[in-house]
Amino acid sequence: MRMTEAHNNRSDDVPHAPKPVGHAVKHRARSQFDGWARTYDRSIVQHLLFQPAYRMFMEELYRWRKDDPAPFDLLDIGCGTGSWLAMVAGSILPSNLLIGLDYSGSMCEVAHGKSRGIEDAPVFVNGDSEHLPFADGSFDVVTCSHSFHHYPHQAATIREMRRILRPGGRLMLIDGFRDNVIGWVLFDVFITKAESTPQGRVFHAPWSQMRRYFEDAGFRDIRQHKTNIWAPIFLTIGVA
Ligand SMILES: C[S@@+](CC[C@H](N)C(=O)[O-])C[C@H]1O[C@@H](n2cnc3c(N)ncnc32)[C@H](O)[C@@H]1O
Repeated sequence: MRMTEAHNNRSDDVPHAPKPVGHAVKHRARSQFDGWARTYDRSIVQHLLFQPAYRMFMEELYRWRKDDPAPFDLLDIGCGTGSWLAMVAGSILPSNLLIGLDYSGSMCEVAHGKSRGIEDAPVFVNGDSEHLPFADGSFDVVTCSHSFHHYPHQAATIREMRRILRPGGRLMLIDGFRDNVIGWVLFDVFITKAESTPQGRVFHAPWSQMRRYFEDAGFRDIRQHKTNIWAPIFLTIGVA
């Protein structure tokens, strides 16, 4: 796998450069998660939203790879403190490269600290989902949980995820399900209010729109599953 230099070319890293559209949303996410990083793993939200997402990923990954001895390369985008990658590393699945990417430097630091000393530990990269610093066709699996609603250019980001997958590779994406009353109140009202800025809002893509993003990016065999009642989330999977 070859890393590209794309992550060094972001105009939002250059002082006084014109700020791209969506900069405010990304900046807000970075400062919020920088502030949350040290206590993130002890949050109640772990039980409500994050752990159910890791379980959904694991069921899919296990079903797909359990009979295939070929080691796989996996990238987790918006990896937070790296808990999902730690689960994969500790499982019986034959993983090879495990890489986490996050826009918050503090989240990456916590993730890196957790895996210190572990053999074949995941690697963590501080970067932006919209400009993935990897060559085309670098991964067999790309995962992304509870991070996508922060991305200002969602269709383009799905295309970027598709670009770095090998043919036959899978994108598994989980985010809040806002197509029923409970999900709408939780994600479109409370979480959107907490995570948006006056200059830009986070956006939880509805079920049908998520499917369209995958179709437009060229994914096939698209499947979607919803889980949880009080904090509903949904998984979308596509094959590259
Ligand atoms: C709610 S956390 C989810 C973390 C992890 N996936 C989990 O399920 O525990 C959202 C993460 O997305 C990251 N994030 C937000 N915008 C991002 C972007 N543009 N590129 C990469 N990561 C981003 C945040 O820094 C944060 O760590």
